[in-house]
This record gives sequence, C-alpha cells and structure tokens, in this order.
Amino acid sequence: MSKAFYVTTPIYYVNDAPHIGHAYTTVAGDVLTRWHRQRQEQVFYLTGTDEHGTKVERTAEEHGVTPQEWADRLVEEHWKPVLQTINARTDGFIRTTSDRHRIGVQRFWETLRDNGYVYEADFEGPYCVGCEEFKRPGDLIDGKCPIHDRPVEMLHESNYFFQLAAFQQALLEHYERHPDAVEPKSAYNEVVSFIKQGLEDISMSRSSVGWGIPLPWDEKQVVYVWFDALLNYITAIGYGQDEATFDATWPADVHLVGKDILRFHAVYWPAMLMAAGLPLPAKVFAHGWLLVGGEKMSKSKLTGIAPEQITEDFGVDAFRYYFLRAIAFGQDGSFSWEDMAARYTSELANGLGNLASRGTAMVNKYRDGLLPAPGDYTNADLALQELLVASAEQADAAMLKLDFSGGILAIKTFVDAVNVYVTEQQPWVLAKDEANASRLDTVLYTICEALRAIAVLYHPVMPRATEEMWACLGQGETLEGQNVTTVATWGQLAPGATITKGAALFPRLETT
Ligand code: MSP
Repeated sequence: MSKAFYVTTPIYYVNDAPHIGHAYTTVAGDVLTRWHRQRQEQVFYLTGTDEHGTKVERTAEEHGVTPQEWADRLVEEHWKPVLQTINARTDGFIRTTSDRHRIGVQRFWETLRDNGYVYEADFEGPYCVGCEEFKRPGDLIDGKCPIHDRPVEMLHESNYFFQLAAFQQALLEHYERHPDAVEPKSAYNEVVSFIKQGLEDISMSRSSVGWGIPLPWDEKQVVYVWFDALLNYITAIGYGQDEATFDATWPADVHLVGKDILRFHAVYWPAMLMAAGLPLPAKVFAHGWLLVGGEKMSKSKLTGIAPEQITEDFGVDAFRYYFLRAIAFGQDGSFSWEDMAARYTSELANGLGNLASRGTAMVNKYRDGLLPAPGDYTNADLALQELLVASAEQADAAMLKLDFSGGILAIKTFVDAVNVYVTEQQPWVLAKDEANASRLDTVLYTICEALRAIAVLYHPVMPRATEEMWACLGQGETLEGQNVTTVATWGQLAPGATITKGAALFPRLETT
C-alpha cells in the first residue's frame, strides 16, 4: 500500500461553537486535499475536537453539565454539522475523549517514560487557561496573557516533566536540513530562534485538573491537555493499535495550524516524536488570523461570526472561495461584509456565473443544446488553449505549495480571458449568417471546452457550483475523478454531448 497524502487540521476546543476563523483552516485543508485527490493521489484528511482541559471543564460547570455531556453536545450540534455547512470532505474525525485516543495517549507516554524522557519534579508558574499553557514571566504584558488579554493564574504542582531540553540540538539540525518543514518563512524563523534561545523541560501532567487522560503509572494525574491533544494526529490513524494503517499514513505531510499554536506543533510535537522514535511530519504550515475590526476574531470578544451567517447569504462555494482568494495564506486578513459582497458580485456572479450561463445558453439557442464539433482553430482559439496550459500549470504549482490565493488567481485569469474571448468573438453576430456556421461551431465548442477545464480546476475550491457546471456539460464521468494535471489537454468534450442551461450559479445579491 502506498502512503496516503496525510493532512490535518488542529483539533478544536469544544468550549464554544465554531466561528469563521476555525472554518478557515478546515476549508484550506479541504481545498488542498481535494486538489491532491484530483491528482489521483491517495489522501487522508483528518479533523476533530479537543475535549479535555480546564477550559472545557469550566465551561461545562458554568452550564451545569458534566464535561462529557458538554463535549457530546457541542460535537453533535456544532463541530460535526459545521463540516456540512462548509462542505468539507474529511476522512476522519477524532475526539480526544474516545477510547482509541485514550489508549494511544497512554501507550505513547508509557513509551516515553520507558525511554527515559519523563521524570517527576515540583513546578510553579503563571498559567493561562485560554492558551492552556504555562507562560514564562517574559511572555506576559502587565501580568496578562498577550493572546487572551486576561490575567494568568499562579499554579504550583508536583508534575511529571518531559525532557524537552534534550532535543534542542536535534531539532535545530532537523530544521537546518529541512528548511521547508515550517512555513511560511517568517514562521520558520520564529521557530528556529525560539529553539536557539534554549529549551527547558516542560511539565507533561497536571494534578490539579480532573478532566483528562490519567497517566498510566500515576492515576492521580492527567496528561497535560496539549500533550494529549497533539497525539490525535497519530491515535486517529491507529498508533499503538492498528500498525498497518499507521504505517500507511504516518508521517503527516501537512499539519495546518494557526500561528498562535505554532510552537506546540513545531517545537514540542517533533521533540515528542523523536523521543518515541517516530518519523517527523513533513510540514507545519502556520496561517494567519482572520481579523474583525483589526483584532483576532474571537467568540469571547463577541467578534465571532458563525460560518452559517455567511453561507446563508452567499452560499458555501462563495464562502470557500472568498477566504482563500482574498487573503494570502500565511498572512493575517481582515474580514468585511463589503469586500465579501464586492468580490462575490464581480468575480463570481458577473465573472464565472455569467460565463457559464452565457456559454450554455448559446449552445441551446443556436445548436438545440447539442455540442457542435469544432472547425479549424484560429489564433484567438489557439491563444486561449495556450493560456489554459499555462494557467493549469501555475494553479497546480501554487496549490501544491499551499498558495491558495495564487492558485485561484491563475484559474481566474483564465476565466477572465474566456469572458473576453466571448465578447470579442461575438457568437450572436456569427449566428446571424449561415455562412459563419462552422466558425460559430468552433467558438461554441471552445467556450464549452473552457468551461470543462474551469469546472475541473475550480472543483476543489467550489465543489457545488462546479458540479452544476459539469452536469450542464452533459458529462457522464464524475467531476472529482477528473485529473487536474491533464486538464489542459484540449478536446476532451465529445461533440454531440447534451448541453443544458442550468440555474444561475451565483444569483445576484438582493440589495436591501
Ligand atoms: N485545541 C487547540 C489545538 C490543538 S491541535 C493539537 C486549539 N483550539 S482552538 O479551537 O482554540 O483553535 C483552533 C484553530 O483555530 C487554531 O489553529 C487557531 O489558530 C484557529 N483560529 C482561532 N481563531 C482564529 C482566527 N480568528 N483566525 C484564524 N484562525 C483562528 O488551539
């Protein structure tokens, strides 16, 4: 069995319902994995929920239910349904309260202890419940956590420690040898300079928290929530329980994370894996934050927008398109309804939607809905075919390096060129004179072939609209089975196919 291309999202805390910041990561991973699927690769896409720790325990308490009841409710009512809302196609959903996760976590820490990397000691320090992390005094601003802008708590504990410091040199060497292992470059530099400042051993258990996975050798303590959560990436694929699946999937090809949780993924996690003798992930990609009013969007600050607030007005495809198109992946981006509406109208309704409806309508009007065979190609037709080759190559290269906005731009450039082609070729003028019949055939065929290629290339980004386009082109085979690397080979639509005019892909927004 060849190794699957393995992509993960962070697992989300169940103390609250999803907002568009969370959905952003999951959509990015979904586009990436759909793209790889359309390169005929085997793919495994994992998401899930982080259900232990103080934050979840306290939220449950405030609502008068047990943490397990709270987690079950949030997962069933919000975290699983949101995958449908954003049309994410995942292969696995891991919950940290599941048996398979608990068993894997206990095996893992037992192994690290057997390998001599865990010891017992006293510890006191400032703790941020928002981050679920001990802070160094130098991390704080006015005694507050800079990420959550709220006071930290002093915790004194007798804990078990993980020998993080022992891996400082090995981590530095790893990152020297693999400069692409953390991206973008700013994140890579941040990680390397953090490691160079010196790593300290870190407590891996809690005696004051009840809601967690008990240490197998000391049932009075639970595994620190981050050192439980990170392990989801291996417990979900059979670590310690189903070695065949594990070997066919691990290591991860891409861990997608927000920049606020980079250190856990690019310092602690690889050190833990080294301690267990496991291979390291190929890449951790840290994306930026969605900002609302200049600040990181968050439910606690009441700036959180639920994904369905956007999908109800704009549809799921526009949601997926907008965030990846408008924000360079790896940088922060501001969300505004005005920008969303403007791009929707110009790029989707007037751009792609209009092209699809014009093209299919003209085949119906002038050729009774049957795709004509093309005649001789002119320079204008050939230029479009060449642009498709270039755009498809650019899109593929960009998507492979997680440059989603670059990938979308390459496809959009082609869509815009086809719209210009239609305007310049004026099929409605050609249709007036029977002498131009062959030329009209060629133009109509060219437009439909272009629509075929656009449907294939945009399918990972906008699965629903492209399925509708595909159905209108009368194609028997599945759209997701179409290979993005051979999409530019001209002439794949069979003349004689039935072309139908569908409903508007992106209806115009109602102005109120
Ligand atoms: N449970 C941990 C992750 C454990 S992974 C082993 C966690 N959960 S979280 O729910 O707080 O955040 C999950 C992800 O959502 C993080 O990658 C975080 O960066 C991302 N986002 C949360 N708010 C965000 C924005 N406003 N914008 C973009 N991403 C944001 O951390």
